[in-house]
Amino acid sequence: MSGGDKLDFEIRPNPAPVSAADRAALLANPGFGRVFTDHMVTIRYADGKGWYDARVEARAPIPMDPASAVLHYAQEIFEGMKAYRAADGGVTMFRPYANAARFNASGARMAMPPLPEETFVNSLHRLIEVDREWIPDVEDGSLYLRPFMFASEVFLGVRPANEYLYAVIASPVGAYFAGGVKPVTVWVSSEYTRAAPGGTGAAKCGGNYAASLAAQAEALQHGCDQVVFLDAVERRFVDELGGMNVFFVYDDGSVATPPLTGTILPGITRESVLTLAAQAGHRVEERPVTFADWQADAASGRLREVFACGTAAVITPIGRVRFSEGEFTIGGGEPGTVTMALRQQLVDLQRGRAADPHNWVHRVL
Ligand code: PLP
Ligand code: COI
Repeated sequence: MSGGDKLDFEIRPNPAPVSAADRAALLANPGFGRVFTDHMVTIRYADGKGWYDARVEARAPIPMDPASAVLHYAQEIFEGMKAYRAADGGVTMFRPYANAARFNASGARMAMPPLPEETFVNSLHRLIEVDREWIPDVEDGSLYLRPFMFASEVFLGVRPANEYLYAVIASPVGAYFAGGVKPVTVWVSSEYTRAAPGGTGAAKCGGNYAASLAAQAEALQHGCDQVVFLDAVERRFVDELGGMNVFFVYDDGSVATPPLTGTILPGITRESVLTLAAQAGHRVEERPVTFADWQADAASGRLREVFACGTAAVITPIGRVRFSEGEFTIGGGEPGTVTMALRQQLVDLQRGRAADPHNWVHRVL
């Protein structure tokens, strides 16, 4: 049967968890994505059988046959979300059903079976329950959750696999960028693109990130923190960053972000920012923005602020832009007031410090 929403999780506590003292030392300065909790979730899938064998168990290597399909044809998707320590000592997540829906949209694009949204959200609850002590209790700290799913069938034919493994790991994190909310510098790639119409740009699949790495390496070589991709057809329109969406703030108070045409990831932070900005009285527009306009509007002063947004980056100001022919700054390289106000609103909401009219905050504990 495949009624995965009724799956019960078998809990097998880690017999040798990290000691409280060692955990405290790790949580003092976790960085991003290098510290992991004691447990993981795994659920298996087979055609004809559906989802089965749901577990929370000690985090451990996953044995893999060298002919596992994912190692050859990269049938893999993932999500990124955070659990927060709430003001009252409880634990919250932000819009986890939106991640569940996007996970299945990514899966559909990669010809993978859907996971019931309830099972997705339950899997996060079960992991957070056993690893709740790993949520950093510091400003800007959170437990980054990484649900992922890959083709585990042992088969080299090129077709959708008929066996999959879904898993969730968790990583206590601080700020994604080492400088925290200090404005970052971005590199606009003229050589590489990320996603073409009809491709996988709107899916959160590992292959998109593999394809972004040479461009990201080029950005780092040029002293930049992130790469900005232009559209693959005309190489004129701004798509997004390697791991974040992008917003532009103008002197008339309007706020713009590129539209969802299938080549960019439909960010949950992006959608939330559109709502929060409109609520704060800004005119919000989802419209194409060319790199030429970005330069011209920065030069004329019409463009006041630019920021990146995403689960990992939250809202991070972009202060400087480099490209093959030069560089320019935005707002003198300083964080803008609209950017920082939107960031504060979002963070206060996520941490249960602000009213939540849209019911975005999801209580875990
Ligand atoms: N764009 C890309 C390529 C990303 O990897 C991410 C991060 O998940 C985002 C945008 C922002 O998405 P979200 O706000 O849902 O985290
Ligand atoms: C996220 O924001 O969750 C991502 O997956 C982006 C990545 C840069 C960590």
